[in-house]
Amino acid sequence: MFANHLPVHSVSGIFPAPFHAETAGVQILGIESSCDETGVALYDSDTGAVVHALHSQVALHREYGGVVPELASRDHVRHLLPLVDEVVTRAGIARSRIDAIAVTAGPGLAGALLVGCGVAAGIGHALRRPVIPIHHLEGHLLSPLLARPSPQFPFLCLLVSGGHTMLLHVYGPGRYALLGETLDDAAGEAFDKTAQLLGLEYPGGPEVSRLAEFGTPGAVRLPRPMRDQPNLDFSFSGLKTAVLTQVRKLGADDPCDQARADIARGFVDAVVDVLVGKALRALGQTGLTQLVVAGGVGANTQLRTALTETLGPRGVQVFYPPTDLCTDNGAMIAYAGWVRFSLADPGADEPLRVHPRWDLCKQSMER
Ligand code: KG4
Ligand code: ZN
Repeated sequence: MFANHLPVHSVSGIFPAPFHAETAGVQILGIESSCDETGVALYDSDTGAVVHALHSQVALHREYGGVVPELASRDHVRHLLPLVDEVVTRAGIARSRIDAIAVTAGPGLAGALLVGCGVAAGIGHALRRPVIPIHHLEGHLLSPLLARPSPQFPFLCLLVSGGHTMLLHVYGPGRYALLGETLDDAAGEAFDKTAQLLGLEYPGGPEVSRLAEFGTPGAVRLPRPMRDQPNLDFSFSGLKTAVLTQVRKLGADDPCDQARADIARGFVDAVVDVLVGKALRALGQTGLTQLVVAGGVGANTQLRTALTETLGPRGVQVFYPPTDLCTDNGAMIAYAGWVRFSLADPGADEPLRVHPRWDLCKQSMER
């Protein structure tokens, strides 16, 4: 939709040239606006320093119990440029020092993506710099490389967000093979729907997690969908129905807090059990010994505890993004932009387009 007529770096084929970091001293501006967080960041490839700023739309959408796409787009319009100003000022660099602009081009809400891509194209045009389209999930899965210690390629990635639940074999930058994914709801979506059923506020993940801490283990036992099937796929929609059944047993007039906490505990234990079980199976099948957990649900404390307890004794190292970069942010997009910049295919000169639906493993070919 946006053609900036400037070189756009991309890779050709699913397995592009090997990663090489000869692009030291590069400053990448990252822009994220795929859903309800407006994120902007500057990544300095020399120092590895990231300056990032985030505006969350949670308060805006709360009264609707979920993200309202049109409100999200308008709010991105209001906040993107001020955040760019803030980040550049805090980084203490001149705008002319920016070498490239990385922007989330998909998947996500079409209108919200258009705002980010429009701003990126405008800045790219003004500065005469390339605009690099980034797959949102690539941003998430590479984000643990911003933490220390960081994983080495290859690794297994458990990507658990509001829209996706996937297991990926990450061979290297831009080289991803899908091992399994959810057949219906994403894990984060299940958290959000469960929160709604329990009368908790949006976004539900952290709220359900907090309430579950007060629940009695085993008091409410919910199914573990697909956990024992010999594949790496997931299904969470049945779990939502199981939660609904439990909620209906609560007295409508006098919902007991302990009963609600027990349901939350039963739900979290079921989701965690499935995620850990499938990750373990994937590690066994691939022989990989490093697991990267990315996406909003990766912030979940019960999941982190279970992964440490289960995988630690098996010699598997588990890596997470820095704590403030688990949910959507501009830093992961700036970093993915630098990785893409390092893999540059200098001949590429494509118009910048938004991809509301975008297959991560085919993305390189579709660019
Ligand atoms: O990665 P993310 O910020 O956005 C997407 O790309 O979807 O993930 C948001 C999802 C939401 O469903 C939210 O409820 C969930 O991550 N989430 C959590 C926690 N923090 C965020 N789920 C469980 N426990 C958490 N602590
Ligand atoms: Zn995300």
